[in-house]
Amino acid sequence: MNYRSYYVGVESQVKLENGKTVVGINFDNGATTPPLKCAVDAIQRDLNWYGAIGRSKGQKNAYCTEKYNSIRNNILSFFHLNSEGEHTVVYVKSATEGLNLLAHILLHGNNDMVLISRMEHHANLIPWRENSNHVDYIETDNMGRLQIPTIEAKLRHYGGRVKYVAITAASNVTGYVNDIHQIAKICHRYGAKIIVDGAQIVAHREVDLAGNCPEESIDFFTFSAHKAYAPFGGGAVIGLKEYLFKRDPFLKGGSAVDNVFDYSQKWLESPARMEAGTQNYFGVISMDSALRQLRKIGFHQIVAHENELKDYLISNMSEIPNVTLYGDTTNTEDRIGVIVFNVKGKKHWEVGEALATDMGIATRDGKFCSHPYVTRLLGLTNLPQYEADLDACGMVRISLGLYNTKAEADRLLYYLKTL
Ligand code: ALA
Repeated sequence: MNYRSYYVGVESQVKLENGKTVVGINFDNGATTPPLKCAVDAIQRDLNWYGAIGRSKGQKNAYCTEKYNSIRNNILSFFHLNSEGEHTVVYVKSATEGLNLLAHILLHGNNDMVLISRMEHHANLIPWRENSNHVDYIETDNMGRLQIPTIEAKLRHYGGRVKYVAITAASNVTGYVNDIHQIAKICHRYGAKIIVDGAQIVAHREVDLAGNCPEESIDFFTFSAHKAYAPFGGGAVIGLKEYLFKRDPFLKGGSAVDNVFDYSQKWLESPARMEAGTQNYFGVISMDSALRQLRKIGFHQIVAHENELKDYLISNMSEIPNVTLYGDTTNTEDRIGVIVFNVKGKKHWEVGEALATDMGIATRDGKFCSHPYVTRLLGLTNLPQYEADLDACGMVRISLGLYNTKAEADRLLYYLKTL
């Protein structure tokens, strides 16, 4: 199945170094994605009806306020939850903002202990260690997978002192999908809450935050709409009302307060309490539209398409003598369409640059905002060695989207063979 007609911009021409123009190939969906047409249409339709949310009178304001708030139920339902349950939705601009918000409101000013993993990208690492003096790490194995038994061992070792375990649902480097429900069960057995960074998973796999039983339920989850085909600043935290309704907000200002006195303020109820400032209406409606489109296409189709392309690329790249692949290339079932590699004798940035200028292929190269994980995958855990060769340390990443095709994969493979 070819999904290109669902998207805006995927047929755009780009100029090569030799002066020719070609249709660009975007293999950088892990960084950001092109918009689905339906997400753009949703914005276009409401441009004539735009008004202030939650603060003013007038029909446009009422229309936008009602729609903005009712989309919270669509988001809950997309993740197999409902508004009567324990979770609420707070809109944010990205997973990075969501994780900063969570680290701040959950930890600020206390000594709670947090477990994170070596697989995390920086947004699920730095906010935790900046807000807590007690962070410990779950290591990855020699294939780069999370060592899940270590989670239980650490939780047992700390005897109930770990309050939060923050883990990614899928790695932005290797694409490994973590079993968040298995991890949730372990966390809950030891009285810890689980926080899931959903930045890389939402466009690629069905996410059921409820799980099969209360022990499997995910306490907090956050994602960015710009990685799910609605790049207009939407995103959300889906989390326990018990916490999001009671804690002081991360962002402070108008829209979040009920009354402000000379020397204090009374916060509104959540979710408004957590959404200070003017709301991003178009980010929210486009996110809603994109998620509904993904659901309509069906995750069965999405996974099948991505797996076919991922396995085709991995098996063919494995045959190219100069290419070194990272992560498990034999058992790929638990990987979304993210492939990282290097070309022998070339720096990662040389390969990335050559792909762009010679072929019009966009990839990302470097350490992908996941420095500790990438250095481990490269075998550079020794800090002096890493610092001495900082520039050379990195990889090239192909991250697939639903609109990518086998013909695009063939163009990449053809070029890699020439390097
Ligand atoms: N946005 C970052 C990426 O490209 C984390 O993976």
